[in-house]
Amino acid sequence: MEKKYYIETYGCQMNVHDSEKMSGLLSGLGYTASENEFDADLVLINTCSVREKAAQKVFTRLGQLKTLKKGKPDLILGVCGCLAQQEGDRFLTGRPYVDLVFGPKNTGELPQLLQTIHKERRQLLALSGPRQEPTFEVETVLRESSIKAYITIMEGCDKFCTFCVVPFLRGREISREPRSILEEARKLADHGFVEICLLGQNVNSYRHEGFDFADLLSSLHEIPGIQRIRYTSPHPSDINEKVMNLYGSLDKLCNHLHLPLQAGSNSVLARMKRDYTRETYLEKVDYLRKRSSTIALSTDIIVGFPGETNEDFECTMQMIREVQYASVFSFKYSQRPHTAALKMEDDVCEEEKSERLMRLQNLQREIQLKLNASLVGTVQEVLVEHGSKKDERVASGRTSCNRVVNFDAPALPAGTLIQVRIENAGPNSLSGVLST
Ligand code: SAH
Ligand code: SF4
Ligand code: F3S
Repeated sequence: MEKKYYIETYGCQMNVHDSEKMSGLLSGLGYTASENEFDADLVLINTCSVREKAAQKVFTRLGQLKTLKKGKPDLILGVCGCLAQQEGDRFLTGRPYVDLVFGPKNTGELPQLLQTIHKERRQLLALSGPRQEPTFEVETVLRESSIKAYITIMEGCDKFCTFCVVPFLRGREISREPRSILEEARKLADHGFVEICLLGQNVNSYRHEGFDFADLLSSLHEIPGIQRIRYTSPHPSDINEKVMNLYGSLDKLCNHLHLPLQAGSNSVLARMKRDYTRETYLEKVDYLRKRSSTIALSTDIIVGFPGETNEDFECTMQMIREVQYASVFSFKYSQRPHTAALKMEDDVCEEEKSERLMRLQNLQREIQLKLNASLVGTVQEVLVEHGSKKDERVASGRTSCNRVVNFDAPALPAGTLIQVRIENAGPNSLSGVLST
């Protein structure tokens, strides 16, 4: 009988894409996807550990799956991803219902691991060392979209920001061979994909034997059929002039850049070990805006890092006013295992963290609304992504600046580039009509 799998994914785009790779590997073994965990023969939880909340969710979820497995003893339950790498065999001891634990770099071993489990019916653990080559290539990737595709170009991180657990879980930076990346992009173009998004924990520190990130972007730009190129997450320190000069010159390079600031105060940045200051960050913002005056910037902010005073936090608010981000992902600081910040006292109380987060989000909402409103009356190029679920006459897509646009357009296929006249703006999306 046909076997079914269900993968539940937490965390960042790297995890989303690892799940797409695992789906591809499983389809190669004859598995088909199940809509939910109840019909599945294999359930994989692809976990994240970047903040305490992300990790807690997984433990709650495992409790529920334990109950499911009681009534379905043949179900195979696997835990993978970053929290699996962090916890290792602690996930297995005391949890006989977990069959399999493997780290993010062991994705490619999934078929062999399943074979062993079926044969030997014992708990398995597969973890890699920090310098082990990750799974860059798998034969088939089952992607969530048919027009936009992720491509992993590097894995790992050498930065060791003091709050961040990622380097301990994804290991050291390893860049994929350019030939292999370009081949994947060409194949995607042949299959009708029009947008690619390059992935790496520190994507712009990509370098392979002297071939750097800017060289890679320029080479990808040459591929016919690819219309848009994005990447995430870059580090502000590695955004050099060579990369910035591509804005306004490579027309497929999207007019949006995620530039994680984390904090606006220089003393907090130094304690975070972010190796830039608000001044050097702002210089880059200015330079980028000289290259492309309409570039949309987004960022990540942590509030309540150890020792963050009210004045420090005001510096962050000030930066948000100054840069005018198109979007901000903001988080309350939480202590993570292995990190250097564990030695600093987590001295901003929970209430204060919540208060700062709320103030920041309110400010950002106002800014976003104002920026979006300024686009009313303009014509924007939109890549059609999908029809609306609620109303079949409404479709949606994204601008090159990564803004969501809803518009009236019944029969347009996903992947089409169209011109939309913007008529309305909310804080999180725009709407308009087709422009001729
Ligand atoms: N490589 C990216 C970030 C990856 S983690 C970069 O350098 O910016 C994604 C985001 O999670 C980070 O940008 C940070 O804002 C947040 N984050 C990481 N560790 C955190 C922690 N301990 N507490 C709260 N937020 C955290
Ligand atoms: Fe974490 Fe810093 Fe590396 Fe980003 S650059 S993954 S925040 S250690
Ligand atoms: Fe989470 Fe790992 Fe990504 S910790 S944010 S899934 S790199």
